[in-house]
Amino acid sequence: MSNLIAPSILAADFGNLQRDVEMVNNSEADWFHIDIMDGVFVPNISYGMPVLKAISKHATKTIDVHLMIVDPDRYIQTFADLGADILTVHYEACTHLHRTIQAIKAAGMKAGVALNPHTPIAVLEDIITDLDLVLIMSVNPGFGGQSFIENTYKKVSQLKHLIEFSKSNCLIEIDGGVTDKNANQLIEAGANALVAGSFVFKSENPTETIANLKSICN
Ligand code: DX5
Ligand code: ZN
Repeated sequence: MSNLIAPSILAADFGNLQRDVEMVNNSEADWFHIDIMDGVFVPNISYGMPVLKAISKHATKTIDVHLMIVDPDRYIQTFADLGADILTVHYEACTHLHRTIQAIKAAGMKAGVALNPHTPIAVLEDIITDLDLVLIMSVNPGFGGQSFIENTYKKVSQLKHLIEFSKSNCLIEIDGGVTDKNANQLIEAGANALVAGSFVFKSENPTETIANLKSICN
């Protein structure tokens, strides 16, 4: 399988949302990365259901939803109804993570778990075979445009070993500060999917930037 690029809509121009969604549709990108923040789990509020509904209406690619909210169980069915294909919850926000993962799958979505930069890979040992995706945060969640944390490479290798050792099929996604400077090393370490917000949308030609990232990764 080829490696995947997931532009983060958080960095799009919300005044021209349909234009930016169409740009992703017509690019070499694989997924739409959708960041939902509640101002409680993270110190920022992004956008919510009505905006996702508008995105889903035009998006023709996989919708990868990253929930940065407390008690995400409350909204699993809502996100399924809004067209999410992958639903990722934070390890740090789930008291009964196993139950949450089963509920996401029962609602017909792929299930992911995100880890904050300080959370070790080892906490996933007993759930890794239940997961479709692990999202490693390479910045502290809450804002786009932050600098990549170098310790991420080590975590990607550790996770890759855990996945191979446990014969899990789960994908490794990296989120935060991804650019053409770190993309190759992340893929070498074992990443399968790279989220990129500012690097794509703040560039002069986002379509070309996506194509460039895609070629670096494959
Ligand atoms: C941060 C979000 C990221 C963010 C990435 O909390 O989870 O998805 O949009 O943005 P960049 O690529 O600008 O770091
Ligand atoms: Zn994200």
